[in-house]
Amino acid sequence: MDIRIYDSKSLVARHFSDYLEQFISDKDEVHIALSGGSTPQIVFEELASHKKDAIDWSKVHFYWGDERCVPPTDDQSNYKMTYTYLLSQITIPMDNVHRIKGEDLPTKEAVRYEELLRKKLPKSDGIPSFDLVILGMGEDGHTASIFPHEIGLWESDKLCEVATHPESGQKRITITGKAINHSKEVAFLVTGIGKKEKVAEIMTHRGDYEEYPATLVAPESGNLIWFLDKEAASDL
Ligand code: 6PG
Repeated sequence: MDIRIYDSKSLVARHFSDYLEQFISDKDEVHIALSGGSTPQIVFEELASHKKDAIDWSKVHFYWGDERCVPPTDDQSNYKMTYTYLLSQITIPMDNVHRIKGEDLPTKEAVRYEELLRKKLPKSDGIPSFDLVILGMGEDGHTASIFPHEIGLWESDKLCEVATHPESGQKRITITGKAINHSKEVAFLVTGIGKKEKVAEIMTHRGDYEEYPATLVAPESGNLIWFLDKEAASDL
């Protein structure tokens, strides 16, 4: 486990952007699953302002690790956030942008998105494999849209499932542990004081760590990098 701790959220974004530039530079094509949340938003702003011309975006295929079941015009849409802060600012072929259709029937979209992943992603051991999955972590230890009350979704034999937000009941489409742990590399972007307890429990296997889906992120490749700010790492 590669743990990188920086003084602030903006430094996490800057160093992650440098890491992403390097990650893309030595590949002909990369398939990356994006996350929603406030930390990725800062990263997208950093990429749009400092890496716009440094990265050959035509090599990049973007997917989502999860999406809220709302239209792409809805302020809660992860796609809308990504379009606003990144996609609208860079030159990327829209054919390379594979959004989850939050406006469609969730059970139908989970099947469609899984079929898309099976068609588009390179395979390893016969299983579709992202080059990189970017994840956030909620204060409850959720990741992507797998929440503690539905931690069993992690073990699904599918690549995509329909999840439910524990408070709002909002339906979500999420990739599962099978997709995440079969990826070549996973980058966790976790910032803010509200995450410090869960980060410490997960990394030291203390407390209720087994109840947190984020604990289950363990790519078979062994390539897991945590990008943390000091606040999120302050109980380590
Ligand atoms: C989502 C995200 C979610 C997010 C965490 C952390 O759709 O909400 O995919 O899993 O990564 O909630 O969000 P913050 O970075 O805003 O704390």
